[in-house]
Amino acid sequence: MLAAAYHSVVVPQKLEEIRAVETVIAPVDDDSLHRAAEVLRAGGLVAFPTETVYGLGANALDAAAVSRIFAAKGRPATNPVIVHVADSSDVALVAAAWPDTAAQLAQRFWPGPLTLVVPKSASVPDIVTAGGPTVAIRCPDHPVARALIRTAGVPVAAPSANRSTELSPTRAEHVLKSLKGRIPLILDGGPCPGGIESTVVDVTAARPRILRPGLITAAMLEAVCGPVDVGAALSGVARSPGLMAKHYSPRTPVVLASTAAEAEQLCRQCQQAGLRPIVVSCEAGSGQCRLPNDPARYARELYATLHELDDGRFDRLIVQLPPDRPEWAAVRDRLLRAAAKNENG
Ligand code: TXA
Ligand code: MG
Repeated sequence: MLAAAYHSVVVPQKLEEIRAVETVIAPVDDDSLHRAAEVLRAGGLVAFPTETVYGLGANALDAAAVSRIFAAKGRPATNPVIVHVADSSDVALVAAAWPDTAAQLAQRFWPGPLTLVVPKSASVPDIVTAGGPTVAIRCPDHPVARALIRTAGVPVAAPSANRSTELSPTRAEHVLKSLKGRIPLILDGGPCPGGIESTVVDVTAARPRILRPGLITAAMLEAVCGPVDVGAALSGVARSPGLMAKHYSPRTPVVLASTAAEAEQLCRQCQQAGLRPIVVSCEAGSGQCRLPNDPARYARELYATLHELDDGRFDRLIVQLPPDRPEWAAVRDRLLRAAAKNENG
């Protein structure tokens, strides 16, 4: 049932060509996995599920293939992408060095939602790393992702499978909504269990630094490798442009509130202005849209909920921020970005 459209590998570069691609959603089976692997090997793009969010994959060792990711997403070339491997032993394909801290963290958290930034090897094209000397690597904990990478036999560069600055996808239909007509194939592996993107940790300096918070918290990392810094370094080689401002945003404006009372007040103000707001919160007894009062379960449902509310029924999504505590750091980070107004890609 798989269309010939992606089997022959359409390689969209220009916008007009991207629009011309037929996008196929394929349920995962041996046949679709092998065909998807063939697409990757031939330089094409495949969207696939991981345990965090859906990724948009290309052969990480093929600069032309990776450039198609940037074209399909409308992603600025200054934002490097993560390279996915099927096993820790494959890091040698893309890393020039593997610091002890990387080895310790990979040993404990891989496969899983942890991305490690290390010196890149010469085999990694500059487009993957935005011209920088480091490469971000992750071994995903999802049977479809690992089977695809293994079958393709190449490391797979994959950002989240959405147009730049939009919400990340946690279901195949979210990918379709954002990239329909721009990519040939989506492997549908059902909802992603994690729900938000991996924790990105730079291990090139003496002390590891969290560049993007995720489900693996600072405390979990520190239990393995000692103290870690948090936040992008002010200077230095490692950059994480994905940390900047607007990102992960629904089309409907998101407004944040610190308390239930503030959320209600914002809601009333919107209504008085003739707008249709909805309040999203995890606090018992308040909020018209309730998310679980537990960081991992909240993360799992966050993007799916925002996708669902972003269908034109509302003019404002008023989100009551969960408490400013370490276990909520990743969720709060994504909410702050969803509400950011400036556009950095
Ligand atoms: O869970 C995830 O990480 C998902 C799945 C598909 O694996 N991927 C993902 O990719 O979220 P993306 O491109 O949406 O976010 C990658 C983040 C960005 O913030 C980017 O700037 C950062 O990783 N990054 C990539 N390479 C880097 C590098 N060499 N140094 C510093 N940051 C890097
Ligand atoms: Mg992304």
